[in-house]
Amino acid sequence: MLGLDMPAMNRSIVQTPLYRMGGRLKSVTGLMTCNIPAAVGDHCAILPNDGEPVLAEVIGFENDQAYLVPFDAAENLRPGMAVLRKGKGLMVPTGRNLLGRVIDGLGRPLDGKGPITDCPLRPVNRPAPPAMERQRIREPFVTGVRAIDSMLTCGGGQRVGIFAGSGVGKSTLLGEIANGSQADVNVIALIGERGREVAPFLEDVLGPEGMARSVVIVATCEQTPLMRVRASQAAIAIADYFRGEGQNVLFVIDSLTRLAMAQRELGLLLGEPPSSRGYTPSVFQTLANTVERLGNAAVGGITALLTVLVDGGDMDEPIADYVRGLVDGHIVLDRKIAERGFYPAIDVSRSVSRVATDVVDREFSKAARKVRAIMATHAEVLDLIRIGAYVRGSSPQVDKAIELMPKLEKFLKQDVGERATFEETRTGLFQIAAAWPF
Ligand SMILES: Nc1ncnc2c1ncn2[C@@H]1O[C@H](COP(=O)(O)OP(=O)(O)OP(=O)(O)O)[C@@H](O)[C@H]1O
Ligand SMILES: [Mg+2]
Repeated sequence: MLGLDMPAMNRSIVQTPLYRMGGRLKSVTGLMTCNIPAAVGDHCAILPNDGEPVLAEVIGFENDQAYLVPFDAAENLRPGMAVLRKGKGLMVPTGRNLLGRVIDGLGRPLDGKGPITDCPLRPVNRPAPPAMERQRIREPFVTGVRAIDSMLTCGGGQRVGIFAGSGVGKSTLLGEIANGSQADVNVIALIGERGREVAPFLEDVLGPEGMARSVVIVATCEQTPLMRVRASQAAIAIADYFRGEGQNVLFVIDSLTRLAMAQRELGLLLGEPPSSRGYTPSVFQTLANTVERLGNAAVGGITALLTVLVDGGDMDEPIADYVRGLVDGHIVLDRKIAERGFYPAIDVSRSVSRVATDVVDREFSKAARKVRAIMATHAEVLDLIRIGAYVRGSSPQVDKAIELMPKLEKFLKQDVGERATFEETRTGLFQIAAAWPF
C-alpha cells in the first residue's frame, strides 16, 4: 500500500480497513514526530521491519508534523519507519464477559485466560453524567469495615479518597472493601503500582470470589505514562458501561497519585508549564475529569474509592489537597496507628464522609457523634495518661472515656477477612454510645 518492504504480519495490519494513511517516523526525542496527516487523539502504529508494531497516540502537531507518544516501550525505532494511522480514539472491551478478567489499558488480556471475546467495544472518552440528572446519594454503601460503616458511613455513588503514606494499609483496605461490599460489579484499576504486588492483590486480597465479580485493569509503574493514563480512563469507561446497565458498581483506583504523576510526565513532554511541585495544569484537569465521571447517573451508580499517597503525611501537598476538594469524603490512614499494630489504621478524627448524614437516621448520627466525643476526650488527655500525670476522679468525662476506650478500640479494630454486617455495626455503635452519658 505504501510501497514499503514489510513482513507479512505488518502487511496484514496495513490491509485491515482501520489502518489508513501513512507517514514516516522523523524523530524520537521524548516525543516522536511523523509526517502523517492525523488529528489529536488518533492512534497510529509504527511498523518496525521485524517485531510487533508499536502503538502510539497523536497528542499534538505543528504544520504537517504530528507529535506521537507510544503506549509501549519504544525500542529499536529508526528514522524513516512506516507509520500508519489507525483511527480515532481508544476503544475498550466491555460487558459481562469481562468479569473475572485482567486486562491492560488497551484491553489486551494479562491473565493468560485466552483472548477477550464477546465484549462489545466502547469509546474510552465519554462525557460525565449531566449534573442535573445525577441521582442524589440516599442509600448507605456498606463496606463491611466497622470503623467506616459506623463513623464514616459511605453512600452509594459516593467518591471517597483514601489518604495515607506508603505502606500504611491502603491496598489492603481497598481489597477488604471490594470483597465485603454488596456492589454488583467491582472495577479495579491498578495504576503505577509495583508489578510484584499485582498477583498477591488478586489472589490473596481479592481471592477467587472477589475476582468473579471484578474486572481488573493493570498498568504497572514501568509502563509508559500514556499507558498509565489511558488504563485509568479505560477502567472508568468499563465502570461507566456497567452503570449504564443500571448496576451498582464499585470503582477502585490504586493509586490516583500515580495517575497524576503519569499525567505530569505527559504534560511536561508536551511543554506545559510546571506549577506546584512540578505538576502541570493538565494534571488537575485529569483528576477532575476522573472524579466527575464517577458517582451516580440517572440510572445506576459508581461508588468510588481512590487512593492518594501522602508523602510524610502531608495532607496539604498539591494532589492530596486538590483531591480532597473534589471527593465527597476522605478516609485518612495514619502511620502512627499502624505502628501500634492497629488495623485498619483509620484516623477517624481526621476523616470525613460528607454524605453520612444523608444515608443514616438521626439516632445513628447521634451515636456516631457520641463516639467521636469519647475519642476526642481521650485524645486530649492521652499525653497526661501516658506519663501517669492524670489523676483518676479529676474529670468524670475523662474517666468514662478511659473506661470505654478498650471496648471502642476492639470495635474499631478488624482483622483481614473479617466482615461485619451493617446491623452488627449498628448494634456495636449503639452499645458504646449508650454507655456515654454526656
Ligand atoms: N488490615 C491489616 N491487618 C494487618 N496488617 C495489615 C493490614 N493492612 C495492612 N497491613 C500491613 O501493612 C502492610 C502494607 O499494607 P498495604 O500494602 O495495604 O499498604 P499500602 O498503603 O497500599 O502501601 P503502598 O503505599 O506501598 O502501596 C501489609 O503488608 C501488612 O503487613
Ligand atoms: Mg498499595
